[in-house]
Amino acid sequence: MSSIIDVRNVSKSFGHLKVINDCSIQVKEGSITGLIGPNGAGKSTLFNIIAGNLPADEGSIHFAGEDITNTPADQLFHKGLLRTFQIAHEFSSMTSLENLMMVPGNQSGESIINTWFKPGLVRSEELQVRQRALDVIDFLSLGHVKNELAGNLSGGQKKLLELGRTMMANPRVVLLDEIAAGVNRTLLQDLIANIQRLNKELGYTFLVIEHDMDMIARLCNPVIVLAQGAVMIEGTIEEIQNNAEVVEAYFGPEVH
Ligand SMILES: Nc1ncnc2c1ncn2[C@@H]1O[C@H](COP(=O)(O)OP(=O)(O)O)[C@@H](O)[C@H]1O
Ligand SMILES: [Mg+2]
Repeated sequence: MSSIIDVRNVSKSFGHLKVINDCSIQVKEGSITGLIGPNGAGKSTLFNIIAGNLPADEGSIHFAGEDITNTPADQLFHKGLLRTFQIAHEFSSMTSLENLMMVPGNQSGESIINTWFKPGLVRSEELQVRQRALDVIDFLSLGHVKNELAGNLSGGQKKLLELGRTMMANPRVVLLDEIAAGVNRTLLQDLIANIQRLNKELGYTFLVIEHDMDMIARLCNPVIVLAQGAVMIEGTIEEIQNNAEVVEAYFGPEVH
């Protein structure tokens, strides 16, 4: 497997605080790679840099062989590198189906010229987007809530819908930042199963930040441990859990 994401020697400071420190990671195409580490290790900052939400101070990022260092998020989105976002407040009064249909795509309906001169084209593309949204709803088994307002969904259903929004964009790599937080155990199983299916059936590569070790253990291989903005160790979950340095970083020297 080759690397689809290659982060080389990236650094990032906020004021005098160096949050990412000469950090290099590779994500193999087709993998579900975990990114863990103590609070404040710089995981979310690294995600923001990879996804184009924050510029790096130093270093480079390659996506599928292309240098994408400091490419804005909306361009990365169209290249197929994206992250999940919480359903924004203004979308909570739209249905699940509408939320999926709102994901920006290459819809010619966005062009006013097409609306005037080619109403038939716009109509048929709208139908295509709708059909695609229905397929996504089906894939995620959300059919029973497709006409429910997003604001009324449970925490876990919202996470599935967020995953569904990434599917609308036909991604190659999806970054997930702590999506298990606040999700009940049953829906967590759904979420894990769906991520595995997207990986196996549609070939999505995932980079997963997660606090929930059980979820990391079930989902991720390899797992990368970040501490103070740099990679401490990378390996299988067993290798990580048996590493004394990792145990110390997480639980402090008193636990042995
Ligand atoms: N926009 C920001 N401005 C200043 N400091 C920040 C900003 N974002 C994050 N930090 C700091 O950077 C460090 C790493 O944060 P973060 O990347 O969120 O860590 P993690 O996700 O691993 O918990 C923390 O000390 C945090 O307070
Ligand atoms: Mg974080």
